[in-house]
Amino acid sequence: MRTGKFVLLRKPEETDLDFLLAAFQDTDYRRFIGGDPLEREKRLRDQILRAAQGLFSYDANLYAIVCRLKDGRRVGCIFFNKISWRNRNATLDVFFLKEERATMAVIDAYLAAIEYAFLDLGLHKVIGYVYAFNERLVKIHKKLGIPIEQRLIEHVYRDGRYHDVLAFGMLEPEFRDLMKKPFYKFLRGE
Ligand SMILES: CC(C)(COP(=O)(O)OP(=O)(O)OC[C@H]1O[C@@H](n2cnc3c(N)ncnc32)[C@H](O)[C@@H]1OP(=O)(O)O)[C@@H](O)C(=O)NCCC(=O)NCCS
Repeated sequence: MRTGKFVLLRKPEETDLDFLLAAFQDTDYRRFIGGDPLEREKRLRDQILRAAQGLFSYDANLYAIVCRLKDGRRVGCIFFNKISWRNRNATLDVFFLKEERATMAVIDAYLAAIEYAFLDLGLHKVIGYVYAFNERLVKIHKKLGIPIEQRLIEHVYRDGRYHDVLAFGMLEPEFRDLMKKPFYKFLRGE
């Protein structure tokens, strides 16, 4: 699917089902992603199996498994949610196993996902909705130079209060600019 410096993104197989279901049950996943209570397991299974069967599921959600290049270990997953082929945009989510965080693999995977969106899918725009208290992901967007388009006030409820959500948006020309930056060249080994 897409290869970075440390990881590759690949289509999920049926054998990845448990891995994905475990990710969906993770406390951090439930804290930082998804505003609604966890969907029923059967529905999730159906969704993942559909994704495993083909690139495009009818509900336009696309999942990718992130694997370490050196040994193939699954370290995380990437989700393109609500792909709109008409408007050529999608919403990006990412999840990494706790023990695999704080590595360049995370930013490498995020970049590979963005490359997949613009270079392979031919999208015009990628959006990331980041809960304002998710400092790690805010930093990753800043590092990649992805601008904040909008702040949704008191948009999610966690830990007994409402929090803002930051909508980060990148357009295809902005991605082309990013490709010229030394940081990009470092990660892509040029
Ligand atoms: C989002 C996620 C993939 C980011 O990966 P990560 O490995 O945690 O990110 P990093 O450790 O590379 O941290 C990114 C930056 O945040 C900083 N950071 C790390 N821990 C932090 C903390 N507790 N508070 C604030 N900043 C922190 C890092 O120092 C780094 O900045 P730097 O490059 O300037 O050093 C991962 O945390 C995750 O899977 N979280 C759960 C799911 C989630 O939040 N998904 C996103 C919803 S769309």
